[in-house]
Amino acid sequence: MSTKNFDVIVIGGGPGGYIAAIRAAQLGFSTACIDEWKNAAGGPAPGGTCTNVGCIPSKALLQSSEHFEQAHHHFADHGIGLKDLSIDVKKMLGRKDTVVKQNNDGILYLFKKNKVAFFHGRGSFAKAVDGGYQIDVAGAAADTLVGKQIIVATGSSARALPGVPFDEDKILSNDGALRVGSVPKKLGLIGAGVIGLEMGSVWRRLGAEVTVLEGLPTFLGAVDEQIAKEAFKAFTKQGLKIELGVKVGEVKTTKAGVSVTYTSAKGDAVAAEFDRLIVSIGRVPNTVGLKPEAVGLQLDERGAIVVDGNCKTNLAGVWAVGDVVRGPMLAHKAEEEGVAVAERIAGQHGHVNFNTIPWVIYTSPEIAWVGETEQQLKARGAAYKAGTFPFLANGRARALGDTTGMVKMLADAATDEILGVHIVGPVASELIAEAVVAMEFKASSEDIARICHAHPSLSEATKEAALAVDKRTLNF
Ligand code: FAD
Ligand code: NAI
Repeated sequence: MSTKNFDVIVIGGGPGGYIAAIRAAQLGFSTACIDEWKNAAGGPAPGGTCTNVGCIPSKALLQSSEHFEQAHHHFADHGIGLKDLSIDVKKMLGRKDTVVKQNNDGILYLFKKNKVAFFHGRGSFAKAVDGGYQIDVAGAAADTLVGKQIIVATGSSARALPGVPFDEDKILSNDGALRVGSVPKKLGLIGAGVIGLEMGSVWRRLGAEVTVLEGLPTFLGAVDEQIAKEAFKAFTKQGLKIELGVKVGEVKTTKAGVSVTYTSAKGDAVAAEFDRLIVSIGRVPNTVGLKPEAVGLQLDERGAIVVDGNCKTNLAGVWAVGDVVRGPMLAHKAEEEGVAVAERIAGQHGHVNFNTIPWVIYTSPEIAWVGETEQQLKARGAAYKAGTFPFLANGRARALGDTTGMVKMLADAATDEILGVHIVGPVASELIAEAVVAMEFKASSEDIARICHAHPSLSEATKEAALAVDKRTLNF
C-alpha cells in the first residue's frame, strides 16, 4: 500500500471536520477527511455526533413530538377535532433515521463536489515526518496518509456517571435516548442541561411521566435568570418534574428498569424507580484512538486538546477545532472554527467571534440567547439598560396561540450598544439571528428600534424590546 500525500488531513467528519475539509478544498488544498462513524449497515455516516446522534435526530424527534402535543392538546382550540389520535413510535424513529441518512448522504455528495478524499476508518497519529505528519487509517479501508497540515476534529462523547456505564437499553446516553422503541411510562433524567430538557420534552409530549434530577440548586445557570425562571415555570406547567439541588446516590438496573437513590435539596432520602434513565451530565472530548502521544500533542486535564485562540495546538502544523477543544460544545461553533482554521492555513485571517455565538435550547417554549446575561453584567459592574417585551402583547403570537415568554434586550447605559439578547418563546431559534447580526455589527438598541419589522411577526417583539430599553414600547 503506497502512502497518499495531502496538503491538509482532517481527522473527524462532524460539523467541525467536514466543514473544515470543504473550506480547505475550496481554498485549493488537496484535502482528505477521515471519519469512523458507521451506519447500521456498517457503511460511512459522516456528520459526527451532530448528524447521527445529536442536533439533527433530536430536532426530528422534537418536531414529531411537538406535532403530537399540538394535535393532542391545542388543535381543539382551532376548532379541529381529532378522534383516536395515536403515536407510532417505530414510524417516528424511522422518519428520524431517514432525516439522518439524508444528511449523511448530503455530506458524502459535498465531499465529491469539492474533491475532498474521504477515508472511512479511524485516524491516528503515527509519527512526525519531513514537512508533516503520518496519519494511519484503521478499518475496512486501512491506509497510510501524510499531511502537511492536520486538523483534529474528533468531537466528544457523553459523560457517564462514575461506575454507571451506559447500556443503551435502560441507562441511556444521547445515543440510546434517540432510539427508545416505545414510550416509557416513567422516564428519569439526570442533568437538567440542554439534552435533559430537549429529550425530556420529547418523551413527556409522547406521554411519559418525566422526572429530571439536577445537581445544581439553580436552573439553567448559564441562561439569563429572568428567562430561566420563565422557562422553568413553563416546563413545570407542562408536567416536566424538575428537582434541583439533588445528590444522586446509587443507580442500578433492575428487572423492571432502573432504580435511583438520591438526596433531595431538603435532605430527604428518596428511592425512585424508572423504566429508563437518560444520563445527560455533559460530554467528554474524544481523543481515545487518536494516539496523541505518538507526536506529543498536548491535552489538558479533561482530555481536551490544548489550543490557543486561533485553534493552534502545541505542534506546528497541527490544529484542533470543535468539541475536542475548549469553548461551547455547539455545532456552529465547531463549523466556524473549521472555516477559520482552513483560512489561516491559506494565510488568511479567519476569525471566530466568541461573543456572538448564539445558544438555542429547542424546547417549547424555545430558549435562545446571544451575548451577556443580566447576572454577568451585574457581576462585572457594568452600567446597562434592560428592556423586555412579552409575547402576550404580540399579535402574531396571539394568532399562533403561543404567547409564552418574552424578548429581553440589554444595552450599554452610556453607548446603547447591545450587550445581550435573551428570548424565551415561540421560534426563538430563528428570532435570535437578528440579534446576532445586530451584535456582530455593534448595533445599538436604538438601531433595532428604528428598523421596520414586518407586521404581524414575532420579530416585532424584538423591536419592542429595543424600544423598551428606552422605556417607549408602543404595544405594551
Ligand atoms: P462531532 O460531531 O462529535 O464529530 C466528531 C467525528 O469524529 C465523529 O464522527 C467521530 O466518530 C469522529 N472521530 C472521532 N475520533 C476519530 C478518529 N480517531 N478517527 C476518525 N474519526 C474519528 N449543537 C448545536 O449547535 N445545536 C444543537 O441543536 C445540538 N443538539 C445536540 C443534541 C444532542 C443530543 C447532542 C449530544 C449534541 C448536540 N449538539 C448541538 C452539540 C453538537 O452535536 C456538537 O457540538 C458538534 O457535533 C461538535 O462537532 P465536532 O465536529 O467537534 O464533533
Ligand atoms: P449540559 O452541560 O448542558 O448539562 C449537564 C447538566 O447536568 C448540568 O446542569 C449539570 O449541573 C448537571 N449535572 C452534572 N453532573 C451531575 C450529577 N452527577 N448529578 C446531577 N446533575 C448533574 O450537558 P448535556 O445536557 O449533557 O449536553 C452536553 C452539551 O451538548 C451541551 O452543553 C451543549 O453544548 C450540547 N448540546 C447542545 C444542544 C443545543 O444546542 N440545542 C442540544 C443538546 C446538547
